[in-house]
Amino acid sequence: MKTPRAFFKPLAIGAPEPFKELPTRVERMIHFVPPHIEKMRAKVPDLIKKVDVVLGNLEDAIPADNKEEARAGFIQMAKDNDFGETGLWTRVNCLNSPWLLDDITEIVSQVGDKLDVIMLPKVEGPWDIHYLDQLLAQLEAKHDVKKPILIHAILETAEGVNNVEAICGASPRMHGISLGPADLAASRGMKTTRVGGGHPGYRVLSDMEEGKTRSIYQQDLWHFTIAKMVDACMAHGLKAFYGPFGDFADLEACEAQFQNSFLLGCMGAWSLHPTQIDIAKRVFSPEVDEVKMALRILEAMPDGTGAVMIDGKMQDDATWKQAKVIVDLAKQVAA
Ligand code: GLV
Ligand code: MG
Repeated sequence: MKTPRAFFKPLAIGAPEPFKELPTRVERMIHFVPPHIEKMRAKVPDLIKKVDVVLGNLEDAIPADNKEEARAGFIQMAKDNDFGETGLWTRVNCLNSPWLLDDITEIVSQVGDKLDVIMLPKVEGPWDIHYLDQLLAQLEAKHDVKKPILIHAILETAEGVNNVEAICGASPRMHGISLGPADLAASRGMKTTRVGGGHPGYRVLSDMEEGKTRSIYQQDLWHFTIAKMVDACMAHGLKAFYGPFGDFADLEACEAQFQNSFLLGCMGAWSLHPTQIDIAKRVFSPEVDEVKMALRILEAMPDGTGAVMIDGKMQDDATWKQAKVIVDLAKQVAA
């Protein structure tokens, strides 16, 4: 049976069989726009040319007094622009807030045909996805929305992390999951006051060497959760994303955090500031040298089996598959 996802699922890499050869959409950065601010809405036509996804944010960072304005601003921005190949997403308020029901009903009834994905915050279990799934089914039928709207969950509570696999499998509408490090830090009782990234106190020290000081290496606070999220997503044919990086001035640290998540399997990250757009574009596109090496592996093993030596390193069926991941991504980025 064909599920709604089968018609336009945006993932090929690592996806289970029926979705493997479907057209994919590159989503290296999900760019956040605060839609209640007119000056920001005015930048959308320009943004559409630069980013893979434009997201109108209605949740955190939008003051409670501006929620209705943000919702109306998003609807206006969706009506005013032709998004072409660029994705149009919104992050709605959380399920137990006073705004969620109006967010969904007003947006789907007015611009449901233009909306690709709803990002749902603070998802704790499959029941949250079931609720939104049914609500969307009703509204799509009522307003004759032609293509199913997908759901992207934010993983940002301890309970959500516990239930991540069930969340991924909760509906054929599931598009993917983003790590929400700020809310997750609070939910877990971590001792930080940051939006994503590392912390100078979370580190390892090298051994003391004769006549030298120790070296200090900061560790990735998010390594475990990203790996867990990637496994759950890939097992269900979904995409995993790193979320926000709040220190806009520290471009190097932003790049390092995005890079770690890319190497662990994430397909993109959020950009909250224009300077983060190019970082995400660079990081989530494979490097030329990596692609060249991957192509050499594919060429050396045309049927993907056996073992060959390239530059003194053994390549076999498993490295052929790794090489294919990189070459497939390079093709999608180039398309
Ligand atoms: C994002 O929503 C986060 O909490 O990090
Ligand atoms: Mg959050």
